[in-house]
Amino acid sequence: MLAKRPPMGWNSWNTFGAKIDENMIREMADRMVDDGYLACGYEYLVIDDCWALRERDENGRLVPDPAKFPSGMKALADYVHAKGLKFGMYSCAGIETCAGYPSSFGHEFVDAETFADWGVDFLKYDFCNFPKSADARTAYSTMAVALKATGREILFSACNWGCCDVHHWARAVGCHMFRSTGDINDSYASFREIGLSQMKLLDTSAVGCYNDPDMLIVGMNGAGNVGMGGCNEIEYRAHFAMWCLYGVPLIMGCDLRVIEPKYRELLQNKLLLRIDQDEESRPPMVVYEQWDMYALVRHLSNGEYAIGFFNMSDELRDKPWNTPIAVFSDFGLPVYSGYDLEVTDVFTGETRVVSDRLRPDGLQPHEAKLYLCRPVKH
Ligand code: GLA
Repeated sequence: MLAKRPPMGWNSWNTFGAKIDENMIREMADRMVDDGYLACGYEYLVIDDCWALRERDENGRLVPDPAKFPSGMKALADYVHAKGLKFGMYSCAGIETCAGYPSSFGHEFVDAETFADWGVDFLKYDFCNFPKSADARTAYSTMAVALKATGREILFSACNWGCCDVHHWARAVGCHMFRSTGDINDSYASFREIGLSQMKLLDTSAVGCYNDPDMLIVGMNGAGNVGMGGCNEIEYRAHFAMWCLYGVPLIMGCDLRVIEPKYRELLQNKLLLRIDQDEESRPPMVVYEQWDMYALVRHLSNGEYAIGFFNMSDELRDKPWNTPIAVFSDFGLPVYSGYDLEVTDVFTGETRVVSDRLRPDGLQPHEAKLYLCRPVKH
């Protein structure tokens, strides 16, 4: 079975856009393995748009651009597989990809076969230049079936930006994840808009098919294709904490060859990854929402919970009356229960026992705090 957990990996788009080639992809594969990302679960290495020639060949097949991929995709897939990684590629449901390359509308079965022949394990399937007269659900169903018909296990990552009610049919038609938003860029405003837009739309995201609020911008520092000024460390932490609390795919987008150690540690934080990858894959509940601040509680497996606090405002919040609070009775742990919560701050590793409520001491503008929790008897 594919997508037993939210898929994890790296994708070329955020940093490289059209500037991709096989040497860079090989170097990224090396970094994913040698720097410990694969060991943490980041297994898919995905080439996004702009890998093909502008024309199909005489057999109607897609052709990798020989200037960018002189060894061909099969050889690159072999290199990636030999490292223990999985290999991902990109196409689009429309008549051209977003960047204007040949796309799979009307070519679904031959393209699926081509990808399977090359050893592709993951297909991101975009939505640009999609005919007005065509039906999105049918188009995604067709590619899902075409991939399945190859006999190769290929994870199907739908990317139609939350359009056409995709939240309600992605799972039924065989997708393993579905983009639920427009494109993220490397700025607090973008993280904020995209993150908040899905906070209450995670109930259809679960084992086998996940809501995908787009790739991670952690560590980009404003560099690259979608670098739009970048974020500070507080904001990258909040972004990663939100994606992990949501239990959604974690597809990195920064240049792993130059990432700062603090962001590598963030992306490899064991407690955060445990929350993201929890096997029950339940959505969080919003238990506090006021003044642009949120508290969410999520049931995890093995008797655990996660509680997250997000200050999405531009203000410092450091008073009891202006910081968010999680009141335990709001998620089923009333004061007479006989239980406290043992809470571990996922960023510092500090553990303490608290009764009846949890409130962070203070939150900087845009800061998040996230706790892994377990009930303990008084
Ligand atoms: C769309 C997608 C992006 C990326 C680009 C490539 O905008 O949403 O994630 O794949 O196309 O052109």
